[in-house]
Amino acid sequence: MLPLFQPDFPSTEELVPFLKRIELSGQYSNFGPLVCEFEKLIAEKFSLSENGVVTASNATAALTEVLRLLVGEKPLDEPAYCLLPAWTFVATAQVVVSAGLIPLFADVDPITGVLTPQIAEEALLCKASRQIRVVLPVAPFGYPVDAREWDEFVTKHKLPVVIDAAASFDKVTPGKVPTIISLHATKSLGIGEGGLVLSGDSDLLVRLKHATSFGFAGSRVASSLGVNAKMSEFHAAVGLAQLKRWPEIRKRLFEVRAWYDDFLYKIDGLSVFHNGETGATSTMNLVSRDYPARKIIDGLERAEVAARIWWEDELYRNQVFGRSCIGKLPVSEYLYHHVFGVPFFSTMTRANVSRVCGELERILDAPARQQLPTGGCAGQ
Ligand SMILES: Cc1ncc(COP(=O)(O)O)c(C=O)c1O
Repeated sequence: MLPLFQPDFPSTEELVPFLKRIELSGQYSNFGPLVCEFEKLIAEKFSLSENGVVTASNATAALTEVLRLLVGEKPLDEPAYCLLPAWTFVATAQVVVSAGLIPLFADVDPITGVLTPQIAEEALLCKASRQIRVVLPVAPFGYPVDAREWDEFVTKHKLPVVIDAAASFDKVTPGKVPTIISLHATKSLGIGEGGLVLSGDSDLLVRLKHATSFGFAGSRVASSLGVNAKMSEFHAAVGLAQLKRWPEIRKRLFEVRAWYDDFLYKIDGLSVFHNGETGATSTMNLVSRDYPARKIIDGLERAEVAARIWWEDELYRNQVFGRSCIGKLPVSEYLYHHVFGVPFFSTMTRANVSRVCGELERILDAPARQQLPTGGCAGQ
């Protein structure tokens, strides 16, 4: 079976110098030297000041804590909504509920799959708008994020925003609005489990640091609500080793992407899911114009090629999340059934990519062939 994904991680030899440093410092967690260095290097990459980055145990925990901070600690006296896209990974809806809010699903842009500031502005005209306390846009599958366009929205509408940019490590332009990136093993810069929060709002990030450490702010008495969502020194060790390898990982991801472009343009009815092109992504998602994604996946799996609908849970239909929506959601509904991921990882070969695309061509050609009139002249 050709796998959907293969992690590209540092070798034991590459990790040893960082593990040795942990042994020498004797500090294994609680914002140790490796976490501090990792945060500093990430801040440099994104041209942020040294305190413009907070690490976390994963993006889900980071999103939950940021949402809680943005909404405030006072008990909510009326139902409070968080506006989010109807098409996203389940974690985005889970964090809303964990933060004590009700998910309010809005449809997304038909080209990019994004809940844009314009869509959010239209949502603010609806009946429930008075109860919208925060907006949570998502960058699907590594779509580029310019947090500054949401800074303008915050100023104009006096409504907080937090961006779920889980897969966009290579494509974030930070702003004041907090942007959360996942470092899960499946992401382009994977460290196993981990999350980053980027923001020009240093006051928010100081409070976030406390919130990810039991609400401790320099003493062992909680000064605010909090959880344990700290990154350990071991994860920072993998992060530091991965940062050294990043230019090479990035180069290989671009190469594999270019091979897909070479083969895919020939297949009618199939296109690469729009991902802004400018940076490396960790998945290859395709959009099937007419044919249901599920059928294509079945065909690929019969040919021993793994494939997956990465976002399978139609959140606005799942009663776990309360099903509150703004109007109808035709774009999200279409995307849930027509976008699917095919094998994509840095160690893929051109022959692997050719095989995947050959199978896709065969599967998509089959219904067309079935529709030809019997005894007809297909060549004419
Ligand atoms: C859109 C989105 N949000 C949030 C997450 C959660 O990230 P993590 O696994 O780091 O908690 C993911 C993970 O894939 C995701 O795709």
